[in-house]
Amino acid sequence: MKQHKTMKAAIVGTGFIGKQHYEAIRRLPNTGVVAVVDADATKIAAFAQEYGIEHAFTSMEELLDNLEIDVVHICTPNFLHYPMAKLALERGVNVFCEKPLSLTAHESEDLVRIAKDKQVHHAVNLNYRSNVMVREMRHRIQNEQIGNVLMIQSEYIQDWLMFDTDYDWHFLPKMVGPSRTVADIGTHVFDIVQFVTNSKIKEVFANLVTVYPQRFQREQRGETFSQEYVGEAKAVDVVNEDAAMIIARLDNGAQVSIVLSQVTGGYKNGLEIVVSGSKSSLTWKQEMADRLIVGNRLGGNEMLYADPKYVDRSLSDFISLPNGHAVGWADAFKNSIHEFYKTIQNDVYQSDSIVDFNEGHYLMKLVEATLESNKTKQWVTIHE
Ligand SMILES: NC(=O)c1ccc[n+]([C@@H]2O[C@H](COP(=O)([O-])OP(=O)(O)OC[C@H]3O[C@@H](n4cnc5c(N)ncnc54)[C@H](O)[C@@H]3O)[C@@H](O)[C@H]2O)c1
Repeated sequence: MKQHKTMKAAIVGTGFIGKQHYEAIRRLPNTGVVAVVDADATKIAAFAQEYGIEHAFTSMEELLDNLEIDVVHICTPNFLHYPMAKLALERGVNVFCEKPLSLTAHESEDLVRIAKDKQVHHAVNLNYRSNVMVREMRHRIQNEQIGNVLMIQSEYIQDWLMFDTDYDWHFLPKMVGPSRTVADIGTHVFDIVQFVTNSKIKEVFANLVTVYPQRFQREQRGETFSQEYVGEAKAVDVVNEDAAMIIARLDNGAQVSIVLSQVTGGYKNGLEIVVSGSKSSLTWKQEMADRLIVGNRLGGNEMLYADPKYVDRSLSDFISLPNGHAVGWADAFKNSIHEFYKTIQNDVYQSDSIVDFNEGHYLMKLVEATLESNKTKQWVTIHE
């Protein structure tokens, strides 16, 4: 078997998601996290020491000036994705960037241009498409096992911002961009809908909802989801959306309905997709990530577990455990990074596993189309 050179990775931003990148990379063969970067100097030194990482820096520039790496993982708040990805691409470093790719489609278009020019590998982390049962759903739809696709429903519902005292950088447009919920979790839904149907969303009609016109801001301690605050509360206006109701049309004509919310009590990471076909339906729920439900009108429903015996042979690499030892969020996350690393090592795109910057850019156009539709109360068409 061909032995690949060891992949030297660096992680920029060591908050909630940066740590997940670190753990996922540690599960991959022949890879190493050689450096971590965070603006918080005390935190990054302690992090590097605790995890035994050789190098710690406080800026991306310092990292790239001092170290040769194969890939950089950008895990910082949204407004830093564009400048950081741009810098890495310009230095010829492969980039694995968190979603959303940028604040605007104008920025993501620029990244697509630079990436093409520099001939490096690039991907956006839309990790759910690397879940094996999502891939099995796509496989079955492609093979017409559910007949013709009639319509698609998807929702992504959470409660981490349900109180008016919940407040962090996601409420600041200069850090998060013009959209919060759609850019944050809507991008996952757009990607999964497009991935399983192998189609593009061409038109959207959106109604965005802000449930609290004002929230109470305090200084947040810790990372995203920590909900630890200190100091006096100050009332501040909320300018971005807590929820969204979107209807959409795919380029193959199928109709889609999407509900997003970050303010619905009891729902934690409630991503779900239902694809209705003329013979049967398929349902995948993120909180039961190792199952795929086949809905039949006659003969009863089936619930498939993630196991090489029950999914297409080509997908067995996406399963790291036997059925019942539930593959879940962290496994899809690891797969997402693994597929990108194989792309770098083989210098060939692993086809449908990678969301490259072109696709990341299209997702930004979808976010902007959603905002425009909400404003104009019209259908908006997305152009290639
Ligand atoms: N793929 C997913 O499912 C998923 C899930 C959660 C978050 N995310 C994305 O990951 C990104 C980060 O989100 P998070 O929840 O980890 O945020 P976070 O606030 O928990 O962590 C962000 C980290 O970036 C650091 N940072 C800030 N400015 C920096 C700079 N200039 N240089 C280096 N580090 C800097 C902060 O100190 C912090 O440690 C966001 O874009 C978010 O959309 C993706």
